[in-house]
Amino acid sequence: MNTQNPAALEAEHNELHVRLERTIQMGGEVGDAAARVAEVLHAHFVGEERYGVPPLALLPALAAGRVEREMAEVVTLTETLKAELPKMLAEHQAVAAALDDLAAAARRANSTEVIAFTEQLKLHMQNEEEVLYPAAILVGEYLKLKLGVPAE
Ligand SMILES: [Fe+2]
Repeated sequence: MNTQNPAALEAEHNELHVRLERTIQMGGEVGDAAARVAEVLHAHFVGEERYGVPPLALLPALAAGRVEREMAEVVTLTETLKAELPKMLAEHQAVAAALDDLAAAARRANSTEVIAFTEQLKLHMQNEEEVLYPAAILVGEYLKLKLGVPAE
């Protein structure tokens, strides 16, 4: 099933990437701290892009009452997300710790823009934990019920 990741989430991830890259380019203590954020964030984003975000692409169709047999393929992704969730939450903790270091460096450099960025990225992760990950998992649970797909 060819699912396009929700454009709004793609745009948000891209914007976070661009802002992080820009912060790394600032160099010095702030740049170094931003590079450490990127180290832990990159592997995390790869997992999200593979199995965390794609199931969310089905939400509008499912909410409109459209359930198609080929959607069953997405259950493989949501089962992976369920299995990987503890690791993804631990990655969020590691990112948050690196962001705290970045925010401290930004305060010393009087960079309100970078401080705002660290808060934006934390809010993004909070939204994932409170809304996006649970919604993605529910897509899979719903498809298993509607299509009689056995749990893997
Ligand atoms: Fe995340």
